[in-house]
Amino acid sequence: MTQTLTLRRPDDWHLHLRDDAMLQAVLPETTRHFARAIIMPNLVPPVVTMADAQSYKARIKAAMPQGSRFTPLMTLYLTENTEADDLAAAYSSGLISAVKLYPAGATTNSASGVANFDKVRPVLERMAEIGCPLLVHGEVTDHDIDIFDREAVFIDRVLDPIRRATPALKVVMEHITTKDGADYVRANPERLGATITVQHLMLDRNHMLVGGMRPHYYCLPILKRREHREALLSAATSGDKRFFLGTDSAPHATHAKESECCSAGCFTAPVALACLAQTFDDAGALDRLEGFASLNGPGFYGLPPNEDSITLTKSESPANLPKQVENGSDPITVFDPGSPVYWSVT
Ligand code: DOR
Ligand code: ZN
Repeated sequence: MTQTLTLRRPDDWHLHLRDDAMLQAVLPETTRHFARAIIMPNLVPPVVTMADAQSYKARIKAAMPQGSRFTPLMTLYLTENTEADDLAAAYSSGLISAVKLYPAGATTNSASGVANFDKVRPVLERMAEIGCPLLVHGEVTDHDIDIFDREAVFIDRVLDPIRRATPALKVVMEHITTKDGADYVRANPERLGATITVQHLMLDRNHMLVGGMRPHYYCLPILKRREHREALLSAATSGDKRFFLGTDSAPHATHAKESECCSAGCFTAPVALACLAQTFDDAGALDRLEGFASLNGPGFYGLPPNEDSITLTKSESPANLPKQVENGSDPITVFDPGSPVYWSVT
């Protein structure tokens, strides 16, 4: 007995596509299922100016599979030297959809991020004026703050002060991983949303650490304890329009993951929708999947939902999920949730 589910075609509101050969390797995995994606700017060097975004967008377009109608929604990487006029020109021309704030040193390729938040205040004011959303990687980087507490401390010490100083600024808390993050969104209905990843809905830190360390589950912000996963699941399945899918699919070559100092990131793009359908099914919330994956994100960004649709099918036996994606001599391991997934995109 099979069951099918047809949804408006989803979008991915947080995606790493990288560049060059890796871009070629991973882009089809997203364009196969998603109509649009917010493209993260943490290349080396990062996408900082309007000219950088133009050229990265052209490289993405050139790498698109033939016939694909995928739309990359570009972002700029905020630095302490970002020029407000350049940012405003990029936004008003429609080239970029948002600007990403990485606290300096918080994660992969974040060295050019912001250390002194006062320095970017004038740029944030300008973004508020023109309606350009700020996407935040919400973790403090202070060495004395435990890695599992970094999101909650960021909310108190950085995010809330920014929002109070610039209340008109539209903010997305990217990849929230804690109950604190979900509660902060709920408590602040104005101009605030949050993306949630597939791995943070499916896994907690026990999955990553008990019985051996699993590098393919290591991402940032790091998986938290179970009660946080439950809070995220309840936010994602609640129907609250301020929560939407951002996979944070972040490919790294397998050798960089399975190494003494493992790179942060889960490569979920090929299996994200199948895993998400399984997660919503297990939670008895399949009727809320379309809102989370296909409607809430466009609503937040002021865009129309996609016109076309995708169909997911549930089989009696678990789907054979792809294990890796070829990338020259450096294959990329695909996220494996470690539990059966009966859904697949058909
Ligand atoms: O796990 C992560 N990987 N978190 C991030 O914030 C960055 C990303 C990457 O670029 O690899
Ligand atoms: Zn990311």
